Amino acid sequence: MIHRRHFLQGLSAAGLLLGNARSALAQAMGHARISPAEATPGFDPDVELSLRAEPGTAQLLDGAPTALWRFNGSVLKGPADSLTFLDGSGHIPVIRVRRGQKLRVHFDNALPEPSIVHWHGLNIVQRMDGHPMYAIDPGQRFVYEFEVGNRAGSYWFHPHPHERTSFQVYQGMLGLLLISDEEEDAAQLPDGAQDVALVIQDRSFDGGNQLVYLGNARHNWMMGFSGERVLVNGRPDYRREVARGAHRVRLFNGSNSTLYHLRWSNGAPFTVVATDGGLLEQPVQQATLTLGIGERADVWMDFSALNAGDTVQLLAESWTPSLQHFTTEQLGLPLVDGARPIAAIVASSATADSRPPPATLSRYPALALEDAVNAQTPRQVEISMMMGSPRLNGRSYGAMDEVHDSDRVTLGATEVWEFANDVSMGMGMGMGGMMQMAHPMHVHNVSFRVLGRRRNGAQSNVHRHLASGFTDYGLKDVVLVLPGERVQVLMKFENHPGIYLYHCHILEHEDLGMMSNFLILT
Ligand code: C2O
Ligand code: CU
Ligand code: CU
Repeated sequence: MIHRRHFLQGLSAAGLLLGNARSALAQAMGHARISPAEATPGFDPDVELSLRAEPGTAQLLDGAPTALWRFNGSVLKGPADSLTFLDGSGHIPVIRVRRGQKLRVHFDNALPEPSIVHWHGLNIVQRMDGHPMYAIDPGQRFVYEFEVGNRAGSYWFHPHPHERTSFQVYQGMLGLLLISDEEEDAAQLPDGAQDVALVIQDRSFDGGNQLVYLGNARHNWMMGFSGERVLVNGRPDYRREVARGAHRVRLFNGSNSTLYHLRWSNGAPFTVVATDGGLLEQPVQQATLTLGIGERADVWMDFSALNAGDTVQLLAESWTPSLQHFTTEQLGLPLVDGARPIAAIVASSATADSRPPPATLSRYPALALEDAVNAQTPRQVEISMMMGSPRLNGRSYGAMDEVHDSDRVTLGATEVWEFANDVSMGMGMGMGGMMQMAHPMHVHNVSFRVLGRRRNGAQSNVHRHLASGFTDYGLKDVVLVLPGERVQVLMKFENHPGIYLYHCHILEHEDLGMMSNFLILT
């Protein structure tokens, strides 16, 4: 119970300091008096699930199964496909809901340590966000109840206990949250067997097929973890038969630290139809895709030109946060132009509708720069890696409920934030040189528009190469910020006053404290 006691004490102390923050905090405190294990009698869910975090095993490689930590669960109410498991190793859950539906999830922690579930990308009340202040102990239950307010899209969920997120995700705890809505129905995207989700993660294994992770050395955590093998849906040899026709392929970077630069072996372009925050207004074509940790892209692929039996490979280059290209062969499969084949898409004899995506996919309320309260003076988030600690605005993550003056925003305001990844340049070059890294920056509770990128000085070939695959359009909740860059994003704090997080989504950086609370004030 340490966590909740700490939270309550912290809130009352913070309440004195924050003045007009009081109403948001009072609201949060009111919620906190409810036991996390209780469902609200007046809440009538459309979909009700049990979700358990527990030790288990899965067939990741051939031979011995791998011990891992995983989500398990079942549907208590609602359509049977509200909770399924991805093809592949079978340990990655997929929750499907519609916008406007009420969802209740009974989350049980059967792990040997505290945990909590964060719904990545959701616009949601503070208490349901899975902030680490809500972590529950082994044997405890947390009941989530909320109405799904987000647009249709490919969201996901993962544990978020402070300093243990990286370890728990690495152990296998991650799931997809796929939201549909009427606008998506109208766009008539391929669905059913033509809707394919590919979760890309890397892992290292010992000779007995067991997971190998980072030791405790702080330096290793600073550099981030990159595994020797790239798995798709939990398998290093992922293979999927597809009908010859149009598909929606949802790509997720679910790794701890690794960036992927992707392309198709047959030279087909990616026709991007959605990014983190759902459908784009119009499809965008590009030859390659770069996905930072936590980023998603849905692409339209029409396989009708293939003959039955033909294979198209998804090719991936792996890049560490310090932008080392470390792609090596796996399973004796040769590299293709420096990239590793990570998923084989095999055309079957069946056919499916062959068609291009509609020219107009969706409409969403424009986030307009004119509406920003600080277009001339964007809120700065300075990223640094100094004195052995990854920091934001010079600080490491402190108390769970601590909010700095510079991290308060007003409910209803539209703001520009600038992620500055050039501040440690030139400072103590001995160390600075090594610590120049790409950081995928994530903000809870909002989707943002990427306004643009700036850099002082030359762009290296590596930067150009990775930048060619960026998806800086649509609504995003993660943006990859290359070393030497400043990236501006525009977002609106529309609802849900309270405390949320922004952080680097390199999970080891997040756990080392490259994370901060921000407070939405009424
Ligand atoms: Cu997916 Cu706070 O993160
Ligand atoms: Cu998140
Ligand atoms: Cu980082």
